[in-house]
Amino acid sequence: GITRYYKFDIKLQNVARLCHAKSIVTVSGQFPGPCVMVREGNHLSVKVVNHVPNKITIHWHGVRQLRTGWADGTAYVTQCPIQKGQSYVYKFRIVGQRGTLFWHAHISWLRATVYGPLIILPRLGVPYPFPKPYKEVPIILDTEAIISQALQTGGGPNVSDAYTINGHPGPFYNCSAKDTFKLKVKLGKTYLLRLINAALNDQLFFGIANHTLTVVEADAVYVKPFETEAILLASGQTTNVLLKTKPTYPNASFFMAARPYVTGSATFNNSTVAGILENKLSPNSLPSSISVKNLSPFKPNLPALSNTSFVANFANKLRGLATVHSPASVPQNVDKQFLFTVGLGTSQCWQNRTCQGPNGTKFAAAVNNVSFTMPTTALLQAHFFGKSHGVYKTDFPREPKIRFDYTGTPPDNTMVNNGTKLLVLPFNTNVELIMQDTSILGAESHPLHLHGYNFFVVGQGFGNFDPQKNPNNFNLIDPVERNTVGVPAGGWIVIRFVADNPGVWFMHCHIDAHQSWGLKMAWIVLDGDLPNQKLSPPADDLPMC
Ligand code: C2O
Repeated sequence: GITRYYKFDIKLQNVARLCHAKSIVTVSGQFPGPCVMVREGNHLSVKVVNHVPNKITIHWHGVRQLRTGWADGTAYVTQCPIQKGQSYVYKFRIVGQRGTLFWHAHISWLRATVYGPLIILPRLGVPYPFPKPYKEVPIILDTEAIISQALQTGGGPNVSDAYTINGHPGPFYNCSAKDTFKLKVKLGKTYLLRLINAALNDQLFFGIANHTLTVVEADAVYVKPFETEAILLASGQTTNVLLKTKPTYPNASFFMAARPYVTGSATFNNSTVAGILENKLSPNSLPSSISVKNLSPFKPNLPALSNTSFVANFANKLRGLATVHSPASVPQNVDKQFLFTVGLGTSQCWQNRTCQGPNGTKFAAAVNNVSFTMPTTALLQAHFFGKSHGVYKTDFPREPKIRFDYTGTPPDNTMVNNGTKLLVLPFNTNVELIMQDTSILGAESHPLHLHGYNFFVVGQGFGNFDPQKNPNNFNLIDPVERNTVGVPAGGWIVIRFVADNPGVWFMHCHIDAHQSWGLKMAWIVLDGDLPNQKLSPPADDLPMC
């Protein structure tokens, strides 16, 4: 097959935003970073050269990495980081995937500024399952990065002071009226918008005034098309939508906008970011002095900040292309079932830790009462070379300490331990994983991301998962298949996948703050018997710790 080559030079770059200039870590001076374009079946070879003091890795979010775990780019999970002056070549093939994904740094908070689109076109000559769009446009949503401060304090990044669309804060913030993303469109045409939520800590609604969007793909998997006024993108999710521009309104421009879906507390409220959908032939038709108040009818109708029922309905509308006659390849039988509680809590504050939690405590987050501790060497190396001693244990609990009583006040799920605990899966295990949100600090939605796999979302609901009743309503025919899913605030979600990709695979909340507090774990998937079921050895340039 064809190999596409890229070179990523990790460099500092001065970037001016919101009346300030900041020096940020970038790929080749670009922010957002370069768009990587490939076709299904292509090989990718990306040489990453690190010129900055920060250690770095690059993760290909959503790429299956079939038997190429060494290229997954997860610091201390699949590789040791690339140090200043070092380089590493990520080599992998895109197998059985096409659509929109993204790449980002996967160490400390660096993905705040180090990210870009990863666009996988279908094989040559293979059409989309929807009419060919007139044009395709990547749209990356993010928060304005305050990364330098974050790295200095050692705590989480500060709450952002703006959201951005393709790197532009837009007209509602200080000093940024000119720094607005404009999509110049022709009338009566269909555009494919490739939306990516690259924000560190936010789930986002997105919409365009006066237009409906047709959702056609989620996390690089086609879905049954449906129309909606707004979409929800959890951090780490990608969604393709068709936008049909109106045949009339020859003079009008419209705002596109994003704003957060907030179930917890940590987000600022002055939060809408906007770009402009502009008629190519008659630009600048928005009112000349724009104020947030007099925007209608130019401003999209986005759901309220805490509109969890919109989010649940939106999630329910996402269905795979499969039908009763050709059901999805979702495992119909389960070999191993796991129940994970995911949630936030607090633990005691000790020396050298930032204590941002209430009453002199430190925030902690846990899966099944385990707050994951990152090792100082890569788990995959330790596993592959049989050197796990002192690095990790394989006693991650299959279920929480207390079953089926996780919500309500006061919650009873606070017995958190720290540890580097993993779960081992034999090759080809059919896994069912129930994830139950807990509400120690109030219920909050957690976008859980699994590396190395897509999974099917077979069920979801609010309250406590009921093992007697809920499985009767699982969707085993056309569930959506994806790599990141929001565990509903105060609810549960059930996913299934086949463990057919040997390696060590991280699973974590894609809200970076929660991840840093410990809402993460890792799976070891063992080799199968046949040569094509085994992980091959790493290349010589794999960085050492
Ligand atoms: Cu997009 Cu482990 O992350």
